[in-house]
Amino acid sequence: MSDYAASWEALQEADPEVARAIADELGRERSTLRLIASENYASPAVLAALGSTMNNKYAEGYPGRRYYGGCEFVDVTEQLAIDRARELFGAEHANVQPHAGAQANMAVYGAFLEPRSEDRVLGLVLSHGGHLTHGSPVNFSGKWFDFVGYEVDPESELIDMDRVRDLALEHRPKIVLAGFTAYPRTIDFAAFREIADEVGAIFMVDAAHFIGLVAGGAYPSPVPHADVVTFTTHKTLRGPRGAMILCREEHAKAIDKAVFPMTQGGPLEHCIAAKAVCLKEAMTDGFREYAERTVRTARALAQGLADEGLRLVSGGTDSHLALVDLRPYGDLTGADAEAACDEVGIALNKNAIPFDPLPPMRASGIRVGTPGPATLGMDEPEMKEVAQIVGDVLRAPGDGAMKERARSRVLDLVSRFPAYA
Ligand SMILES: Cc1ncc(COP(=O)(O)O)c(C=O)c1O
Repeated sequence: MSDYAASWEALQEADPEVARAIADELGRERSTLRLIASENYASPAVLAALGSTMNNKYAEGYPGRRYYGGCEFVDVTEQLAIDRARELFGAEHANVQPHAGAQANMAVYGAFLEPRSEDRVLGLVLSHGGHLTHGSPVNFSGKWFDFVGYEVDPESELIDMDRVRDLALEHRPKIVLAGFTAYPRTIDFAAFREIADEVGAIFMVDAAHFIGLVAGGAYPSPVPHADVVTFTTHKTLRGPRGAMILCREEHAKAIDKAVFPMTQGGPLEHCIAAKAVCLKEAMTDGFREYAERTVRTARALAQGLADEGLRLVSGGTDSHLALVDLRPYGDLTGADAEAACDEVGIALNKNAIPFDPLPPMRASGIRVGTPGPATLGMDEPEMKEVAQIVGDVLRAPGDGAMKERARSRVLDLVSRFPAYA
């Protein structure tokens, strides 16, 4: 008998339609260029842990304190994930159970806020790079809690810390929240901390996007400054889909109780095993190299797109992503750009830019990111080439012959840096 139960052959036999779609998805990953800033390629080791029989285990509670028997081996992997997260990020406490970034944020709000009360959160508005869970009216965060939004400065397109302070003094939030889904620059965590202290607020950072860069030393760490840091494990950190929460010891009990039993049931122990694996990978020199390459390639891609005549929001990037204003190309929208790039095998997404005159489903911008290309080993020369292809496609989205040439250039590029070779 084997030590590992998952079987590709068994899947093909049991459900050929699902097997075919899974194989096709791998084919798509191998034949297209991934510029979606929130996506990456988890390693075969991470994927193997995800496909393990730890999927079968109920383990409500925490290592050593479970509501079910038979948890001795899931305790090993969950404790490894906790210990590695604490070591890698220098955190006092780690909860590795959140099923996703949205659940991690929900748990933090659950720990510190009373729903539908006067308790307020001060966070970056969605239209300037914040996330749905930072108070959008269509999300539980905006429905159940009272959010006040700060914006970027209209000139510099950087977070305006004076404005953040003014809003904090005016609204006395319980939580001051920093973190983004589409903001290309570093965040002044020390300045946020000062503002939070001035109004007696919890300082929370949603590091979902940049946590892998923090792990690899390529982006400032929020951990020494924040009370609580949430993040997803599947973006720059390159692990399984899921999330974690780091916090100071004084908040450990409140956070653990808010994850289980307040907002979640049984933890996904196969996912937690995969989180442990990705954290071990993130402790290596190879991961540091990847994190540096991610930022270097994002800068090269952004510069290349600026050379093609597009405008970079905030003038550039310090992270894994760039936000690109398409208006120099006339009335091309983000939705048009996304569709045209998709046709030639480049996956990226439309994105609102600050003070965007268009609705989000059309948008004046695109967001591009390089965690995927950096994982595959692409570097600055490849990003120059990608920028030229994107420029060609976006200047003439209706030109079929040009799009055919662009598609074959993309195929040539990805065949030189194959995924899961
Ligand atoms: C800043 C931020 N927070 C939270 C999330 C939510 O993560 P998930 O999709 O895992 O719920 C995202 C996802 O894009 C994000 O960018």
